[in-house]
Amino acid sequence: MRLDGKTAVVTGAASGIGKSVAETLAAAGAHVLLGDLNEEGGAAVVKEIRSRGQGADFFRLDVSDLNSIADFAQKSYAARPHVDIVANVAGWGKIEPFIQNTPDFWRRVIDINLMGPVAVTRAFLDKMIEKGAGKIVTVSSDAGRVGSLGETVYSGAKGGAIAFSKGLAREVARYNITVNCVCPGPTDTPLMAAVPEKHRDAFIRATPMRRLGKPSEVADAVLFFSSDRSSFVTGQILSVCGGLAMAG
Ligand SMILES: NC(=O)c1ccc[n+]([C@@H]2O[C@H](COP(=O)([O-])OP(=O)(O)OC[C@H]3O[C@@H](n4cnc5c(N)ncnc54)[C@H](O)[C@@H]3O)[C@@H](O)[C@H]2O)c1
Repeated sequence: MRLDGKTAVVTGAASGIGKSVAETLAAAGAHVLLGDLNEEGGAAVVKEIRSRGQGADFFRLDVSDLNSIADFAQKSYAARPHVDIVANVAGWGKIEPFIQNTPDFWRRVIDINLMGPVAVTRAFLDKMIEKGAGKIVTVSSDAGRVGSLGETVYSGAKGGAIAFSKGLAREVARYNITVNCVCPGPTDTPLMAAVPEKHRDAFIRATPMRRLGKPSEVADAVLFFSSDRSSFVTGQILSVCGGLAMAG
């Protein structure tokens, strides 16, 4: 699956799955525009990608801040004339019972995991519509398909990102823009490293393939939805979870 000549925006690209998505799309030939809150991490990923002779730039991005998104989009178009692919990967959560969550926590979870993909997608859509082509891929979560204990509002936000993608898929299909979601199951990233060990072990026991996913395994699914190999696939949800969630 090649992406030669394409430009891809990847949010949350300084770490974990987003880093792997940026590396995978760049290895497939795309020029990648990385966005993240973590400037040091983002710059290090760009350095690594460029050291392989591939194209990458990093611009600071807070997906929960509309001004930051506008600034990121402006810098992206200054660097590249067109953005063909938007991969919404930035996300955040914490395991905590719903009854202990504060309203500020709800808002933060929803702003990053639901409103982030909504606003970042919107920022790049006009030019895709103009060109009559585009690929939007959002990394949601199996929590958004089947729920996740201790991640109640996160599950709602991720489920919202799935429903948003399906609605948008219907609206922009006429412009030859596809909109799909990848749902990781428990995946071995810094976000997962922050999860208490007893929860991690429980995730592994519940997974038919008896291990955590690798970021690159999620990135391969994003590559599929970013490439022409998925030209007639839109509004779809693909779980990469070792069989943990077998949602209908
Ligand atoms: N790791 C898992 O088990 C797992 C499972 C299901 C879904 N996911 C989802 O996959 C995506 C990537 O997760 P990960 O495990 O690689 O996490 P991670 O913490 O390793 O990486 C997330 C990245 O997003 C960035 N980020 C956070 N808030 C941001 C913001 N407001 N603006 C811009 N960047 C921001 C962080 O700085 C970080 O670089 C997330 O959407 C997450 O919800 C992860």
